[in-house]
Amino acid sequence: MPIDLRGTTAIITGGGRGLGLAIARDLASNGAGIGLLDVLPDVTATAAAVAAEFSVPAAGIISDVRDASAVEAAFGAIQEQIGVATTLVTAAGITIWGESAKVTPDDWQRVLDINLNGTFFACQSFANRLHSAQAVDAGLRGTVILISSMSARIVNVPQFQASYHASKAAVSMLAKSLGVEWAASGIRVNAVEPGYMLSDMTREFMDANPDLAGQWRGLIPAGRMGEPADLVGLVRFLASAESGYLTAQSVVLDGGYTAI
Ligand SMILES: NC(=O)c1ccc[n+]([C@@H]2O[C@H](COP(=O)([O-])OP(=O)(O)OC[C@H]3O[C@@H](n4cnc5c(N)ncnc54)[C@H](O)[C@@H]3O)[C@@H](O)[C@H]2O)c1
Repeated sequence: MPIDLRGTTAIITGGGRGLGLAIARDLASNGAGIGLLDVLPDVTATAAAVAAEFSVPAAGIISDVRDASAVEAAFGAIQEQIGVATTLVTAAGITIWGESAKVTPDDWQRVLDINLNGTFFACQSFANRLHSAQAVDAGLRGTVILISSMSARIVNVPQFQASYHASKAAVSMLAKSLGVEWAASGIRVNAVEPGYMLSDMTREFMDANPDLAGQWRGLIPAGRMGEPADLVGLVRFLASAESGYLTAQSVVLDGGYTAI
C-alpha cells in the first residue's frame, strides 16, 4: 500500500543497519525525510546514501541510546538539519545469550540499558519536541513505533536470553503506557513484535551456530524466517494516518510462531 509521507520526518534509532535501515529506506521511498541515530561510525554516510537514492532529506547522527543527553543532542541535530520529527521508530537493540545463573551484571545491564532505557529516552526526546508550544500551535501529531519482539510474550529456544525477553516485555508495556499517557496530546504509540527475521543480527548468530536456522524454521508455521520486506509495510501503516485510531497496542508479526 503506497502511503504519501512527503513533508514528514522520521527518526529511526538503530537505523544504521538491519531492520532499522530497512524501515528507514521504506519510509524514505514513500517520501519521508529520515534521521538515523546509531552507534555505527558510518551512519552519516548511510543517511547520505538514503538521501541520494530516494531524493529525501536525511541526516545520520552517531549517538548511543543509553545516554539520555546524547539522545537529546542527536534529536536536536536531526531537527536542525531536516525538521521536527513526527514519526519515531526505535529499532536500536541487542541480545546477549547465556545461562541466567552465570550472566554478568554488566551484560544484564547492557541489554536493559539499550533495549529498554534507550527506547524510553528516544520516546522522551521525541515527545518533548511535539509537546513544545511551537509544535502544538502548528497542530503537529506524532506516531511512535517501538520495535519490540515476540520474545515479549514467549521464551525463545534453544538459546537462553532472559535479559532480552524481560527487556522486550517491558518495551511492549511501554507502548501501552505511553500510548495512553500521550493520546490526548496527539501522539500514538504502538509496538511491533517480530518473530525471527533475517537481519544482520540474526545472520551473525546463524553463521556462528549453523544448526540454528533449521531449528528456528521448524518452529515457524509459515516455514520460513521473516524478511525485512515482511515488516516494513506494517511499520509504514503505523507511521501513516491510515492507522490514526490505533494506539497503545502491540502487533505480532511472526509467521504464526506464537499461535501454537
Ligand atoms: N532480527 C530479528 O529476528 C528480530 C526479531 C524481533 C525483534 N528484533 C528487534 O529489531 C531491532 C533491530 O534488530 P536487527 O535484527 O536489525 O539487529 P541489528 O544488530 O542488525 O541492528 C541493530 C542496530 O542497533 C544499533 N545499536 C545497538 N546498540 C546501540 C546503541 N547503544 N545506541 C544506538 N544504536 C545501537 C546497532 O548498531 C545496529 O545498527 C532490535 O531491537 C531487535 O531486538 C529483531
